[in-house]
Amino acid sequence: MRSGSVTFEDIMTNGESLGDAVSAAAGEFAEAGIATPEVDALLLAAHVLGVGRGELAARLVSDFAWSGPQREQFWGLVGRRSRREPLQHITGEAGFRQLVLAVGPGAFVPRPETELLVQMVVDAVMASGQPSPRVIDLGTGSGAIALAVATEAPHAQVWAVEKSSEALEWACRNNETNGNPVTLLQGDLADSVTLVGDVAGTFDVVVSNPPYIPDEAVPRDTEVRLYDPALALYGGPDGLDAVRVLAHVARDLVAPGGLLAIEHGELQGADVRQILTQAGWRPVSTHPDLTTRDRYTTGVWPS
Ligand SMILES: C[S@@+](CC[C@H](N)C(=O)[O-])C[C@H]1O[C@@H](n2cnc3c(N)ncnc32)[C@H](O)[C@@H]1O
Repeated sequence: MRSGSVTFEDIMTNGESLGDAVSAAAGEFAEAGIATPEVDALLLAAHVLGVGRGELAARLVSDFAWSGPQREQFWGLVGRRSRREPLQHITGEAGFRQLVLAVGPGAFVPRPETELLVQMVVDAVMASGQPSPRVIDLGTGSGAIALAVATEAPHAQVWAVEKSSEALEWACRNNETNGNPVTLLQGDLADSVTLVGDVAGTFDVVVSNPPYIPDEAVPRDTEVRLYDPALALYGGPDGLDAVRVLAHVARDLVAPGGLLAIEHGELQGADVRQILTQAGWRPVSTHPDLTTRDRYTTGVWPS
């Protein structure tokens, strides 16, 4: 419920300033347990008005009059967000690196921490000195990693594999929007070598943000639990089933000296290092995210 004595009917008949509406929505979001209430309220207002955050800020400090239908739409979306539907599903998009990706039901919403994984891949691709380095993203979801690499390292040839046909639809859409720079393949990442055919054994980088949550560790956040697909989240009893497959399948995808880069949970670094080391990758190292949590492990396939 909204705090204070202003009713929905009051707002519709008397009007409500943009700033008041954003503040009231942020209050509702805080009550609903949303971690970033102000940001979410601002982004929903920007979405309804069809403006960026800079223009929204200008309108918030001016006497900008928004229309009745805009207010009505805003409060409809506030209701959805208060029921913990992901903001990105409501707006239909997620910012990721330099991209704005289309997302919605059936695809994992790309996360900010994965942007650092992309940076590692872009750095490796640049450092490879190859005129046309090859990268493959296993479990591409909306296409986030593959498309970010393809747009930031346009000399790279990028492939991506995804098992879910629903997720693949979002990846196809995002690929099209960005000029189809990625070769998208549908299938199980375990079958990647067969899926890529002739180019197996020639990749400079294999990258993956696989499902890595242990089956029993059901996420607390409603947005994740109810809206991210189970296939994107759960990775078996210890969460590392997909990592074990990746450690083996990537050996047949990379060229000698190629890199495997995997995102994982903050407590899984030691186990992922062990899996990669046992599969023959070396050196193997774990890297922190911006909050100093161990979130990525890389291995190099010996030359
Ligand atoms: C955590 S999500 C990551 C999605 C995307 N790479 C990102 O970072 O936003 C994991 C993705 O792997 C896909 N996936 C899970 N198991 C798979 C498998 N065996 N083969 C291929 N894709 C798989 C899921 O459908 C999901 O899209």
